[in-house]
Amino acid sequence: MSAVTVVGTGYVGLATGAYLAHLGHRVTCADVIPAKIEALSGGRIPIVEDGLEALVREGLTNGRLSFVLGAAGAAAQGEFVFLCVPTPQRPDGSADMSYIVAAAEEIGPALQAEAVVINKATVPVGSTRVVEQALGRADVFVVSNPEFMREGSAVHDCLHPDRIVIGSDDQAAAMRVASLFGKVQAPMVITDPASAETIKYASNAFLATKVSFVNAVANLCEAVGADIREVALGMGYDKRIGFEFLKPGPGWGGSCFPKDTRALVHIGEQAGYDFGLLRGVIAVNEEQHDRVVAKVATAAGGSLDGVRVAAWGLTFKARTDDRRGSPAIEVIRRLLASGAHVRAHDPTVTATLEGLAQVEICADPYAACQGAAALVVLTEWDDYRWIDFSKVADLMERRSIVDARNLLDASALRRGGFAYWGMGRP
Ligand SMILES: NC(=O)c1ccc[n+]([C@@H]2O[C@H](COP(=O)([O-])OP(=O)(O)OC[C@H]3O[C@@H](n4cnc5c(N)ncnc54)[C@H](O)[C@@H]3O)[C@@H](O)[C@H]2O)c1
Repeated sequence: MSAVTVVGTGYVGLATGAYLAHLGHRVTCADVIPAKIEALSGGRIPIVEDGLEALVREGLTNGRLSFVLGAAGAAAQGEFVFLCVPTPQRPDGSADMSYIVAAAEEIGPALQAEAVVINKATVPVGSTRVVEQALGRADVFVVSNPEFMREGSAVHDCLHPDRIVIGSDDQAAAMRVASLFGKVQAPMVITDPASAETIKYASNAFLATKVSFVNAVANLCEAVGADIREVALGMGYDKRIGFEFLKPGPGWGGSCFPKDTRALVHIGEQAGYDFGLLRGVIAVNEEQHDRVVAKVATAAGGSLDGVRVAAWGLTFKARTDDRRGSPAIEVIRRLLASGAHVRAHDPTVTATLEGLAQVEICADPYAACQGAAALVVLTEWDDYRWIDFSKVADLMERRSIVDARNLLDASALRRGGFAYWGMGRP
């Protein structure tokens, strides 16, 4: 059992802290938001994440997990200190390292000698050195350990990772970090810091590429009269391709892909490499948002100006409450810019969205459809499969549906008198 500190209790930090406590370590999690610490100390988690609240409560009950305000005090207690603070995008596309640097400067003086500081946040190549400098300590180690968990299945992914990547120039420090995950069955890639940092960006960029690729093929399917569902099935059986991430949609998003793809393009630019392929992947994604908007305009009768549109789903995917970088929000922004009035529903949203006060948030999916000339499904929440569409038909001004997630039963809807547009399918 080791003493572990986790700095930042967001999606990554909270899951990391709770699962390391589950593995048997003594974990202190720190944040800068007093209300968050108070809620977490009472076993209430501020995010929607399957199984996480139970894991947090388990740790609180057995005394292995605690939450404190401020990183410095927490860092003093840890042999291992995970940095799980944000690395948002700067205007030039690069990753903003200010939270990492501030946290490192804060914990530096408090660290125990021989402590290992672990970059779990997604940070550009060379960040290990940046953190070493910000810590200002020659008697501690900095190791890279990028995180690959997916929101919506974070607990499962932490307990059953596809791999664990550890980057360090110091073999002994790397092995100490590896020992923390001793109980986890997973391949371990122990490498240098630059390779570990690149693995994270390259993995996210590859997944974004796969989604942009399948979206482009779906667009081609529409042009040639093929069905992307059949095409993806036929492609996915090839083990070199696989079925994962082979579904078309309104474009990729979330808190990671948009910023990480741009950061990797920027990292390439700084190093003298033009990552043209990835710039293309990003451009295809932007176009995909526009394609959905164009479909909604068609579904609404040709114009969006002054037209009422119902939008189902606001999060970037189902089973999370995270709307950061959500393609649903991107599409809605474009609908608003075209003059549409948007009434929206999402199972995780009850209040007006910050910066999108014009969007009327409805308590249920039906209310969003009242008087709408088109309905657009933007997040693949299961709830939307089990809707009474005869009721929806009565509520809408036009029976038009754009299913940007290929979630619904097109034949049943057409039988019910709806005009239906999916993605890359008849
Ligand atoms: N969200 C994901 O699915 C995911 C997956 C893999 C990697 N990552 C990476 O992990 C990092 C964190 O992402 P996240 O989604 O968990 O972020 P988040 O915004 O959900 O949480 C970050 C937390 O850090 C806290 N914080 C900021 N400065 C602090 C400080 N000085 N001391 C203590 N707490 C501080 C914030 O209050 C917040 O609670 C990012 O680099 C991200 O790219 C995220």
